[in-house]
Amino acid sequence: MTFLTIVYALLFYFATAVLVAGLVLRIKKFADTPAPLKIPTTPAPTTQTGVVLRIFREVVFFESLFKGTKWTWIFSWVFHFALFLVLLRHGRYFWEPVPLPLELIQPFGMYAGFAMVAGLAGLWSRRFLVDRVRYITAPSDHLMLALLVLIGLSGLGMKFVAHTDIVAVKAFFQGLISFTPQPLPSDPMLLIHLGLVAALMIIFPYSKLLHAPGLFFSPTRNQVDNPREKRHIADWAKQLEQ
Ligand code: HEM
Repeated sequence: MTFLTIVYALLFYFATAVLVAGLVLRIKKFADTPAPLKIPTTPAPTTQTGVVLRIFREVVFFESLFKGTKWTWIFSWVFHFALFLVLLRHGRYFWEPVPLPLELIQPFGMYAGFAMVAGLAGLWSRRFLVDRVRYITAPSDHLMLALLVLIGLSGLGMKFVAHTDIVAVKAFFQGLISFTPQPLPSDPMLLIHLGLVAALMIIFPYSKLLHAPGLFFSPTRNQVDNPREKRHIADWAKQLEQ
C-alpha cells in the first residue's frame, strides 16, 4: 500500500468521524434548545399536518426564500437541486451492486455538475454585486462558496478533462467501508477533489452549512399556530410547574 493511500484512508476516517459526531452533537443541541415563546411566522398552519406540509414546501421548494428574493431563490434552488442529483450520482461509489434508480440518475447527475457550479457562481456574484449583501458578507461565506465551486470544478475536470480510474476509486471507498484499504489512484485532480471533500466534511458541523438540519428546528416554521386553543409551555417551564 502506498503512502498516499494510507494518508487518504486516514483522512477519510477522520473526516467521517468529525462529520458524524459533529452533526449528532449539533442536532442534539438544536433539539435540546427550548422554544419558550409561540412564534410561528404567520400566516401559519393551525394543524400538525399543516406544519409537516409547510416544512416540506420549505425543504423542497425553499418557499420563504421565494417570497423573499427571487434572484437568490433561483440560484439557490438550482444549486441545491443539482447538488442533490450530483450526490445521488456519487452513490455508485459506495453501493455494490448499484441499484437501478441510481443507474438511471447517472446522466442527469453528470449535467447537474454544471448546474451546481452555475448556481454557486450566481450566489457568489451577489456577494460582490448587491451592496447590502456585500456589507454582511464574512470571509467564511467566501470560503464555503470557494470550497464548493472548487469541488464542483475538480469533479467536472475529472469527468471531461483528465479522467481518473473510477473503478479503482470505487474499490478504494469499498475498501474503506470494509476496513480492507485498496490502492487509491494518484491523479492530481482526484487528490484535489477528495482533499476538498474531506475539508468540507470536517467544516460542515461547525459552519453555516448547518442550516440544512437547522431548518427542521426553526420555531418560526415548525410551530402550530394554535396559541388560543393550547397553552404553549417550554419543556423546562413544564418541569418548574410540577
Ligand atoms: C468521498 C466523496 C466523493 C468521491 C469519492 C468523489 C469522486 C468523484 C469522481 C471519481 C468523479 C469523476 C466522475 C467521472 O469521471 O465519471 C467526481 C465528479 C464530480 N464530483 Fe465528486 N466525489 C465525492 C464527493 C463530492 C461532493 C461532496 C461533491 C459536491 C459538493 C462532488 C461534486 C462532484 C461533481 C460536480 C462532479 C462532476 C459531475 C459528475 O461526474 O458527477 N463530489 N467525483
